[in-house]
Amino acid sequence: MKTKNNEKLIAVIGATGHQGGAVVRALQANSQFKVRALTRNPDKHRELAEEVVQADLDRPETLPAAFEGAHGVFLVTNFWEAGTDELKQATTAVRAAKAAGVKHFVWSTLPNVEAISGGRFDVPHFTGKAKIDRIVKEVGFAYHTFVIAPFFYQNLVGVMAPQKQADGSLGWALPLDPNVRCIHMGDIRELGSIVAGAFAHPDQAGKGEYLPLVGDFMSFNEIIDTLNRQGHKFSFKQVPKEVFAALFPGAAEIAEMIGYFQAHTYLGSESGDRIAFANKIAGRQPTDFSTWARLNVPVQKP
Ligand SMILES: NC(=O)c1ccc[n+]([C@@H]2O[C@H](COP(=O)([O-])OP(=O)(O)OC[C@H]3O[C@@H](n4cnc5c(N)ncnc54)[C@H](OP(=O)(O)O)[C@@H]3O)[C@@H](O)[C@H]2O)c1
Repeated sequence: MKTKNNEKLIAVIGATGHQGGAVVRALQANSQFKVRALTRNPDKHRELAEEVVQADLDRPETLPAAFEGAHGVFLVTNFWEAGTDELKQATTAVRAAKAAGVKHFVWSTLPNVEAISGGRFDVPHFTGKAKIDRIVKEVGFAYHTFVIAPFFYQNLVGVMAPQKQADGSLGWALPLDPNVRCIHMGDIRELGSIVAGAFAHPDQAGKGEYLPLVGDFMSFNEIIDTLNRQGHKFSFKQVPKEVFAALFPGAAEIAEMIGYFQAHTYLGSESGDRIAFANKIAGRQPTDFSTWARLNVPVQKP
C-alpha cells in the first residue's frame, strides 16, 4: 500500500516518546515514506507529522483507523506506564495491523532474560517484550523486523541522573560491579535510522532479523571515567541489591535488571554480527558515548 506519490505510509505508535519520536524523524528525513504519528492525544501533538491520528493500545476500537492504509507499523509499548499490560497491548496491535492489511511490522523488543539466565533473573520489562516476538512472527506479515533499543544514553541525564551522595559528591550508587563491561548503550534518537532502514530494505531486514542499536559497550567505571575526563567529578558506590531494591517504587525491578547486565550483559550474548548488520541497515555508525556526552552532559560551573 503506497500513497499517490508512491511513498510507503508508516504508522508509528509512541510517536510522542523517545523511540517512536526517533522513528518519526528518521522516516520524515526519507522521501520514500509518509508518516502517520499515533498518540492518545492527537489534538495536543498536531505538529508531530503531516498525519496525526489517535491510537490507544488499551482501546482496540481506535486501532483500525490508526492502521488503515498503512504499509508498515512501528510498535513500542511502555512498560513503565501504570496499568500497562505489554502482552495484551502488543497482541491487540499485531492483530489490528494484520486485519488492516499491514505488510511490514517492526516491533521494539528486548532480550529474553528468563531464557538467557535460566530463570535466575526476573526482569519483566525485558522478558515480557521478548515473549511478544513469537506473536509478531506467527501472525504472518509479509515482513517483520525486531529492533532492540539499548540502555539509552539519555537515562544518565534523565531517569538515572546522578544524585547527591552521602559524602556530598554527585554520582551513582548502584548494585553493580563497576569494573564489569556489560552495558550495551546508545543514543535512542538513532533507533530511527535502523527502523527506517528496515522499512526501506524489507528484503534484507524483514524476515525476522534482530537489529540492536549499540553506540558503545561499557562498564560503569568506563562511563564515569569518560564523563570525568570531560570535566565532571562523578562518583560511584556499589551498594547491596537488597538495599537498592528498597529505595523507590520500581527499584527491585531495576536491581534485577542490573544483576542480569552484570551476569550476562545487556544483550545477553555476543552480538557483534547483529550490531554490524543493524548499522548497515541504518546506513550509519551510531554515536559513541564520549561524543554524545560532550554535547549532552554539560559540565556545571562551580
Ligand atoms: N530507558 C531505557 O534505557 C530503555 C531501554 C530499552 C527499552 N526501553 C523501553 O522503552 C519503552 C518506552 O519507550 P520510550 O522510552 O520510547 O517511551 P516514552 O518516551 O516514555 O513515551 C511513552 C510513549 O508510549 C506511548 N503510549 C503509552 N501508553 C500508550 C497507549 N495505551 N496507547 C498508545 N500509546 C501509548 C505514549 O504516547 P501518548 O502519551 O502520546 O499517547 C508515548 O509516546 C519501555 O517499555 C521500556 O521498557 C527503555
